[in-house]
Amino acid sequence: MHDPAVFRSEHLARFQAEPTVFAAPGRVNLIGEHTDYAEGFVMPAAINFATLAGISPRSDGKIAIYSENYGEERYFEAADLPAKASRHWTDYPLGVVAILAGEGLAIPGFSLSVWGDIPLGSGLSSSASVEVATALAVLEVSGASYPSSAMTGPMLARLCQRAENEFVGANCGIMDQFISANGAKDHALLLDCRDLSFRLAPIPANVALVIANTMVKHSVAGGEYTTRRAEVEAACAVIASHRPEVRFLRDATVQDLNRWGSEMTPNSLKRARHVITENLRTVAAADALAKGDLAELGRLMAEAHASYSKDFEGSCAEADTMVALAQDLPGLIGARLTGGGFGGCTINLVEQSEAQDFVEALGGRYAAQVGIVPQIHICHASGGAHRLE
Ligand code: GLA
Repeated sequence: MHDPAVFRSEHLARFQAEPTVFAAPGRVNLIGEHTDYAEGFVMPAAINFATLAGISPRSDGKIAIYSENYGEERYFEAADLPAKASRHWTDYPLGVVAILAGEGLAIPGFSLSVWGDIPLGSGLSSSASVEVATALAVLEVSGASYPSSAMTGPMLARLCQRAENEFVGANCGIMDQFISANGAKDHALLLDCRDLSFRLAPIPANVALVIANTMVKHSVAGGEYTTRRAEVEAACAVIASHRPEVRFLRDATVQDLNRWGSEMTPNSLKRARHVITENLRTVAAADALAKGDLAELGRLMAEAHASYSKDFEGSCAEADTMVALAQDLPGLIGARLTGGGFGGCTINLVEQSEAQDFVEALGGRYAAQVGIVPQIHICHASGGAHRLE
């Protein structure tokens, strides 16, 4: 993690003003993949990788945005914001500013510095964390209080999701922004993506979150995510034509698939089977975690990976290999591909006492078999976005 004192002094040197600094975490999803946009269940945890956003007011009506990662600074007019995205990293912070302005917030000129240590395109929600950190910073400089009844954590997550959907143009669900804003230390969170109610699921102190990066990149804006989502929605439309009360696959059952699956394309049927069974697994996994039944949790994660890989076809050879290579390592509780898919990271729940050896063994095996040296991190569940004092 970047030393916040250094981050502050760099902002001061660049913009001649002391910043207020906010941090928003990335996330790892333990189970519940591609269920959020079907109004289903997900069970992510915020992690100890984050984006920092430092903000200070300006008197010239400009918005200056500096990314320490890209070493690049851009200027905009607060009173004349770009109407659309430009496929540049500034789309994420600007999207948030545009959505907040659209909600009636008077946006003053400001200088914003952004830095993050979440590996980009690795399925750990770097973009959501930029959005959430920016949102907290912009609310602060605009004089809005957070959290408040006018702007709760779930509301903030929804606005950041809209920034990504409506401005950036990526059709993501609510999971990533929600957990970045509302994560809880030492807990995963079972989120009902229909009404955004949630319950905390404690991660035992002797369990490590080992995140293994296949080093194969994915992009939510890329075509596969959109295709899968369309296939899921097409399956839902078939069921809804018989049972109009089914608005999302959240409302559908395996029996529905057995009755009407033949009216779907083979791909839609498989995607729907993944989503419907994944919702059941996710709720069961939260119950297992609450009871401390780690063996059951591991079994559900294995089933979830098989379903993600075979029915949803959201995995890739490297991620399947990373999951397979973990299976017989001492201390493994459960492993699966996490996040949007088509590359990125696997999540391995591992007994803390075995975690270091696990990292070395898995890294060695993956490098030998795939020919890529992976980055593997021992993480812990962290709190949601907050101001740094
Ligand atoms: C990406 C999206 C999320 C969710 C996951 C898949 O991370 O941003 O909304 O759909 O993929 O579970």
